[in-house]
Amino acid sequence: MIKDIIKNLKPSSTLLINEVSNKMEKEGKKVFKFGFGQSPFKVPEDVVAELKNHAHQNSYLPMQGLKELRDSIAKYISAKKNIEYKSENVIVGPGSKELMFLLHVLFDGEIILPAPSWVSYGPQAIIGRNKVKWLECSRENNWFPTATELEKLLKENKDQKYLLILNSPNNPSGQICKNLDELAALSKKYNLYFLSDEIYSELSFEDNYQSISSYAPDKTIISTGLSKWCGAGGWRLGYFIIPDSLSNITNQLKVLASETFSSVSAPIQYAAIVAHENNHDEYINKSKNILKAVGNYVYENLKTNDVLINKPQGGFYLMPEFVGKKFSSSKEMCKDLLEKTGVALLPGSDFGFNENRMLSRLSFTDFDGNEFMKKTHNEKINNEIIEKLAPKVVEGIIRLKNWSTT
Ligand SMILES: Cc1ncc(COP(=O)(O)O)c(C=O)c1O
Repeated sequence: MIKDIIKNLKPSSTLLINEVSNKMEKEGKKVFKFGFGQSPFKVPEDVVAELKNHAHQNSYLPMQGLKELRDSIAKYISAKKNIEYKSENVIVGPGSKELMFLLHVLFDGEIILPAPSWVSYGPQAIIGRNKVKWLECSRENNWFPTATELEKLLKENKDQKYLLILNSPNNPSGQICKNLDELAALSKKYNLYFLSDEIYSELSFEDNYQSISSYAPDKTIISTGLSKWCGAGGWRLGYFIIPDSLSNITNQLKVLASETFSSVSAPIQYAAIVAHENNHDEYINKSKNILKAVGNYVYENLKTNDVLINKPQGGFYLMPEFVGKKFSSSKEMCKDLLEKTGVALLPGSDFGFNENRMLSRLSFTDFDGNEFMKKTHNEKINNEIIEKLAPKVVEGIIRLKNWSTT
């Protein structure tokens, strides 16, 4: 009684890794949770206070999202992108993931996914009955597609509509896309649209974050939300910014929203206004300072001729490739690593790579972010501070490095 298309979806290896991790912890073993992708920081206090103030809000809100919230988001994003967005360009959902899912449901065309890509894009496209075309990227181009690679694919069928999902800073590679202009230029020649997943954009380690929306404003939907920069993944609030040129998508998403989740939880929407209106630069700068230092620590202490990694540029992750290791699949490799050392990584095959490439995703957030924030004040974070405030990261990396050389 289950549709074949659903039956064939495999549970992600994340589940397996979590199951084995939990079992090991129950047996009293130490587990280094480098598989999780959650912010280590607490939600800013003013935002939490606002949520408490609005606990009494019990009405369903408009299906596109509370107008005051959409106003605050439009102002916030317009200032960052230097493009004038209005509240009509914003649609709010229970996490950006749900909005992406609905986009897959309505989109009639093919989905282009760079490998590496976040775990959920592929399965969502399949549930939405869209064909997926994978574009395997190279380390040399920061793990993003080059225009030549993309154009080769677009040329296959010039009449087809394509949606390229671009996620920068990237989960899993931790890299930022540098060739946005040449990718955007192709949208003038082909029926190419972009879903720019910018959920980690506030946590970009370099200043002057660039979005493909600056290069192809009429063909880009921006996807972002509170989950990563505001430490509020479990609050479930995300949104799309959709240009006027794609207002038919906004209208249809509203219909799908009204037939599925109705509207995001009211107290969360009220609290999210404060997240956008109050200035959180200090909180964000501190988060970035810590993440950048811990990410660089992992990079410096893990990379060798046999462990290839690009230096992290934003977000929580880096993507080591253990070129000296020989396993039947990256999943087997991660299982061996976890059982022998207690270090949990996710296999590269979860992110679109061929399983025989010994790639993995490492999340460097297994530390108490609140404690780290309290004890540091935007100073340069040296190894001594990391050893004190992120001891599990330090010990896990030692174990991982030892494993990589055996
Ligand atoms: C690349 C990427 N996009 C989207 C999401 C989902 O974000 P949200 O919490 O807004 O659904 C995540 C969360 O893990 C992510 O890593």
